[in-house]
Amino acid sequence: TGYTTLDGGFVNTASTKSAITYIDGDAGILRYRGYPIEQLAGKSSFIEVSYLLIYGELPSADQLEKFTDKIQRHTLLHEDLKRFFDGFPRNAHPMPVLSSAVNALSAYYQDSLDPNDPEQVELSTIRLLAKLPTIAAYAYKKSVGQPFLYPDNSKSLVENFLRLTFGFPAEPYEVDPEIVKALDMLLILHADHEQNCSTSTVRLVGSSQANLFTSISGGINALWGPLHGGANQAVLEMLDKIKAEGGDATDFLRRVKNKEDGVKLMGFGHRVYKNFDPRATLVKETAHTILGKLGNGDELLEIALKLEETALTDDYFVERKLYPNVDFYTGLIYRAMGFPPRMFTVLFAMGRLPGWIAHWREQNEDTTGKIGRPRQIYTGYTERDYQDVSSR
Ligand code: CMC
Repeated sequence: TGYTTLDGGFVNTASTKSAITYIDGDAGILRYRGYPIEQLAGKSSFIEVSYLLIYGELPSADQLEKFTDKIQRHTLLHEDLKRFFDGFPRNAHPMPVLSSAVNALSAYYQDSLDPNDPEQVELSTIRLLAKLPTIAAYAYKKSVGQPFLYPDNSKSLVENFLRLTFGFPAEPYEVDPEIVKALDMLLILHADHEQNCSTSTVRLVGSSQANLFTSISGGINALWGPLHGGANQAVLEMLDKIKAEGGDATDFLRRVKNKEDGVKLMGFGHRVYKNFDPRATLVKETAHTILGKLGNGDELLEIALKLEETALTDDYFVERKLYPNVDFYTGLIYRAMGFPPRMFTVLFAMGRLPGWIAHWREQNEDTTGKIGRPRQIYTGYTERDYQDVSSR
């Protein structure tokens, strides 16, 4: 029917214009609103980066204080929504719990659903930023059968999240400031990555003028896949498996290269970065600091270092321009912090949230935007006649 341009996987097709994030995959450059990721990771905070991504500029001291204050005042979940968690089986993966609870926000907060009302969009933005860490922590508490805590709004977003996750009611919870800083930095590194699978999903859902909560829930589901955000859990499981099988990194890479059972070196390769992933460089440094401090998982770090070193000089990986991506070392850090592997992708979702919101809003503010509706190249039958069931 005249549609002849096929670009499966959008390898070379722009789906939108965007002013949020710039990536040069060959040069290993990542910038949010023009600011290099290295500067933001070293000097900024996750809350400030969230503001930058969503509103386009770094906040003044006054703007930052007001933004932080607004978020802190929305961290509580509706009591009925808390009971929602009881309906899930104890062994549920926290990602579907997270996306379901985020989707349920559309049912509990019906006064902030209208994409054409800027005040409602703003309210749903603040609600999401404030409530996602609470939901994420409750998804964890549910999985380990521990009681939920109420947020303590005197604490920063990351401290509050760690306390809600690892703390117990009526017990003081002291968290190591270095861990808070490292987690904050990891959230910054994940905060946006232009038109990746989950962000494109958020934009596509939002293009139908679906509300922000439900669009973000779609993004969380897209993120869960092992080729996207689910890779951080898959990397750790891969390292555990190599360790259990005797720790032979070279033999594992041989199986990857032979494509035995479709086995991949998880945490390696990227659609856009064909030289290095600048986030991976920063994560690797943090892995050394945190693992050096907490001393937990060193053996897996050794295996990871060996895999990286061997792969980087191996023809298979060199020819295909495969380098460690952001997920290669994050799992080791998260585990050393005390998170089980099933929570790793939840942490990715917390980090990516401001990016998703920024993209949904950018699209929503573009009055010339159209509903996303890709075409196809039809490969099925030409017309044929219906046969009665007795003659098939
Ligand atoms: N291990 C082994 N071979 C690989 C890998 C890998 N991790 N990644 C790509 N290849 C091979 C692939 O088999 C193909 O080889 P051939 O030409 O012989 O068929 C070639 O390299 C090109 O790969 P591709 O799958 O066409 O590349 P893509 O751009 O479609 O996929 C990717 C990108 C990230 C999905 C892929 O590299 C991959 O599956 N990596 C492992 C999963 C992973 O770590 N994902 C996290 C991505 S970063 C975080 C995020 O943004 O989500």
